[in-house]
Amino acid sequence: MPILRSTFIALSRNRVLRSFSERSSVGRRLSSRFVAGMEIDDALRVAQAVNQQGMAVTVDSLGESVTSEVEAHQAADVYHQLLDSIAARRLNANISVKLTQMGLELSPELAETIAEGLAKHASATGNFVRIDMEDSRLTQVTLNIVRRLHAQPNLRGAIGIAIQSYLYRSQADIEQLLADGIPVRLCKGAYKEPEEVAFPRKAAVDANYIRLSRMLLNSPIHHGLATHDEAMIAAAKSFASQHGIDPGRFEFQMLFGVRRDLQRRLVNEGYHVRVYIPFGPEWYPYFMRRLAERPANVLFLAKNFFRS
Ligand code: FDA
Repeated sequence: MPILRSTFIALSRNRVLRSFSERSSVGRRLSSRFVAGMEIDDALRVAQAVNQQGMAVTVDSLGESVTSEVEAHQAADVYHQLLDSIAARRLNANISVKLTQMGLELSPELAETIAEGLAKHASATGNFVRIDMEDSRLTQVTLNIVRRLHAQPNLRGAIGIAIQSYLYRSQADIEQLLADGIPVRLCKGAYKEPEEVAFPRKAAVDANYIRLSRMLLNSPIHHGLATHDEAMIAAAKSFASQHGIDPGRFEFQMLFGVRRDLQRRLVNEGYHVRVYIPFGPEWYPYFMRRLAERPANVLFLAKNFFRS
């Protein structure tokens, strides 16, 4: 299994396969299980349908590591349009943003200025920006940017961050974020990291996830527990009920197209669920990371592809 995971992560970085896949109709059809579509309207339509099923949404305009300032501003424009459309259609939806798409690797100042503009727009429309966490080279700079923006009085409550339980440093980071009052999305982590920075074994990542989720549940801030792992979800539910923590004080978050049965079940049980909806033409690296998480998805997709 770890070999397959590494293979898909390596494939996620393959430029030739990426450009071929993103342009091919077969690629688009395969990706449609995990990606809402290519256009903003596709994302909004799916968001509305998910809202109608009793779940909140976070929308991700796919794309990573832009190579020019113009591209970074274009990527930000899509998010500005999304914020306006979410407000106009009164959707229960916020946005998830990657700082590399906002130019982080060209200039941290550029990414911070763009993120500030998005957070201000979100604040003005009563919305919220979640900054996704990328690979460990970028953890510190991402934290610095989010903490600085959140320290602006007008942006309090309009910006949050994602933290990964596979990193050794995450407990200390969460302590700091809680002291600052910053909302956290806890996930396990989707990148290939060296042993020097991340737990190499799944059991340790899971144990840390449970430890960190308890820290979040104990805090008065509304946090998100992003996972499809039933063991993580069961641990959070039982901790919450043992400590009298109301289900409305936190939310579970899952990816579009993944464990829809579990999403529905949690809603029926009275938990808050938010679905992460990615869209856009640059779907390839995202799609490959989903296959890396669960190589059995390849068989699943193939079966459905030939059936439809
Ligand atoms: P794990 O991978 O241990 O899987 C547990 C079980 O869940 C599997 O046995 C399977 O049943 C099911 N499952 C998991 N993935 C599946 C898939 N792709 N298809 C079908 N079933 C699957 N990462 C990151 O580094 N930075 C970030 O900002 C984010 N943001 C984020 C937001 C949201 C809302 C989610 C749900 C996830 C992320 N992630 C992320 C990804 C996250 O780090 C992680 O890679 C995946 O969620 C998979 O981990 P699980 O916790 O689901 O458990």
